Amino acid sequence: MSADVLVLGSLNVDLVMRVPRIPQVGETVADGRFARRRGGKGANQAVAAARLGARVRMVGGVGADDEGRYALAGLVAEGVDTSLVEVVPDQPTGTALILVDDAGDNLIAVASGANACIAVSAGFADVLASGPGVLLASLEVPVDVVLSVAAMALDAGWAVVVNPAPAPPPGTSWPAGAVLTPNQSELQSMTGEGDVETAVRQLATDSGCRIVATLGAEGVLLCTGDTVERVAGVPVQCVDTTGAGDAFNGALAMGLAAGLSLTEAVRQANAAAAYSTETAGAQEGLLTLAQLQSRSRG
Ligand code: RIB
Repeated sequence: MSADVLVLGSLNVDLVMRVPRIPQVGETVADGRFARRRGGKGANQAVAAARLGARVRMVGGVGADDEGRYALAGLVAEGVDTSLVEVVPDQPTGTALILVDDAGDNLIAVASGANACIAVSAGFADVLASGPGVLLASLEVPVDVVLSVAAMALDAGWAVVVNPAPAPPPGTSWPAGAVLTPNQSELQSMTGEGDVETAVRQLATDSGCRIVATLGAEGVLLCTGDTVERVAGVPVQCVDTTGAGDAFNGALAMGLAAGLSLTEAVRQANAAAAYSTETAGAQEGLLTLAQLQSRSRG
């Protein structure tokens, strides 16, 4: 199968504890509620794009364990092609421990497992040759794999979106022509600059990329060349921000694959991300296209 959106990234099982507040170091907070859910930035982004109607193919890795089968079954149920997801022997499927507080804010620690062991397979070049589309990559898989795959995709005429999450090592050199989508803390880590507008201009100049900085409730700052544009946040009743960035990136990739301009795709993704926070879980709140259109009509 060809793909409109090719997602390179992690598949995790999320072990989520909802707590009244995030404990401090050395502190215990009681009254938590536990849930096991499908997650991983890559898998979340794949589901986000698929629910909005894109044909999605996933590249990643899972262990040969029940968790891996659980993660893959979720993607298959969403219509995502998983034929390029490697089953990595002797490695567990990635696991994320997530605390979510009453305000919907979170704290996440990830054990990468199989996500850290993927390589560029021969099948990947065949997918790129099958037609232009959008490559969407995030960084819970090895950065060198992402950079080499992004360069191959750009050479093949694909649009490339790199979500630099978690924050990349200092000095990472990005393929010019890509779209980078850091959140505020990733942007600061990548540039050393606290002022968001200065930081997006600096990153755009240094990388030769277009920058789409996601600012949570403050919306998005979009920098293309010398121009900086702000897209306002969408007011919502936030329950859980986990995966909001993934909702944004999946919707952005789907919008670009559907032929929207970057600005139009950012506006759609901004709404998709905001509405995703109204439901608990990284994948549970991802909207279908019909739901997004209905919410956006108000
Ligand atoms: O972006 C949210 C995701 O980050 C979670 O699903 C968790 O698996 C971590 O990868």
